Amino acid sequence: MRTQVAIIGGGPAGLLLAEILHRNGVQSVVLERQTRSHVLGRIRAGVLEPWTIDVLRENGLAARLEHEGHRHDGVWIVWGGREFLIDINRHLGKQFVAYGQTNLQEDLFAAAERRGAALMTEAEDVQPMDIASQRPYVRFSVHGEAERVDCAGVLREYEKIYPFGWLGVLAPVPPLPEIAYCHSPRGFALASQRNPTLSRYYLQVPLDTRIDDWPDARFWQEIRARFPRSWAERIVTGQSIEKSIAPLRSYVAEPMQYGRLFLAGDAAHIVPPTGAKGLNLAVSDVYYLARALVEYYRDGSMAALDAYSSTALRRVWAAVRVSWYLTMLLHRFPDASAFDHRAQEYELEYLQSSHHAQVALAEQYAGLPL
Ligand code: DHB
Repeated sequence: MRTQVAIIGGGPAGLLLAEILHRNGVQSVVLERQTRSHVLGRIRAGVLEPWTIDVLRENGLAARLEHEGHRHDGVWIVWGGREFLIDINRHLGKQFVAYGQTNLQEDLFAAAERRGAALMTEAEDVQPMDIASQRPYVRFSVHGEAERVDCAGVLREYEKIYPFGWLGVLAPVPPLPEIAYCHSPRGFALASQRNPTLSRYYLQVPLDTRIDDWPDARFWQEIRARFPRSWAERIVTGQSIEKSIAPLRSYVAEPMQYGRLFLAGDAAHIVPPTGAKGLNLAVSDVYYLARALVEYYRDGSMAALDAYSSTALRRVWAAVRVSWYLTMLLHRFPDASAFDHRAQEYELEYLQSSHHAQVALAEQYAGLPL
């Protein structure tokens, strides 16, 4: 099989890249290790930055999200009976949209299907070969062990592991009207949503937590115990339809290019879910990468491809930093000292009382313009 661009991974980054390339006359093949139903069954975050929506709209991928997504002016931070709104609309004149990554993944598969895209699932042993040469290629099969890509001497990795995870529940009950991040002595909790009849909630839990120890009744009781009363009493509970635990980690690989191999999305970086930046970063990477590939295939110029890593990394580090910051701000750290607790409490008070701090956080939550 011959193609112009081989894309390893059919998540949001891979499928969106294929879509943008197609719209600009560049061919690609997408290789995905998992089955389609596995990819579609993964529940991820659900907050789309205004810039993400712009990219999706420009590429004909926003019809459903504009219909089903819920627009928000800001997010609430609540703790200890206090609360304030990070008012993104007031500070930046922008809104963001609550829309599940799972739904966007469905939209991307549907778009790929409509145009008869070359997309192979259950591709095993995917191996990029000769990536520093002018004739790179990728090996893959349908059986066997996966190999790792080694960019020896070039790759630098940055990683931070957090000492807890998030227990997430999806339930067919009406969500709170707002998205709220809650800090409490019992640990962090988050109230989010997918649509008017589907709620998404999270609890900070220790890393050794077993899902079986968290039947629905215990989960809802704990959610209500963490939120201040005025919020807790408005939370509608019900039987869950999905429950999963995700450990929290920050990771960045630099550079995002080696020879003719380009990293985008989770292949290049992982963020903790706090701030819901993962999908938005996949979109911004792919926005830059697609532009650079189109320029290369149109004009034969390597300029934008050569600049891809440094261009993408500025936005990557902005999102890595804010998701780290929100994680440190809002969670209960098992080894925190009295000093750490007091400083964390003061940080929340400062954010609540300072207009400038709120503008800065609104700017980071909304993400940098592309
Ligand atoms: C989700 C929403 C958030 O605001 C966030 O920070 C993480 C996850 C969600 O809806 O899943």
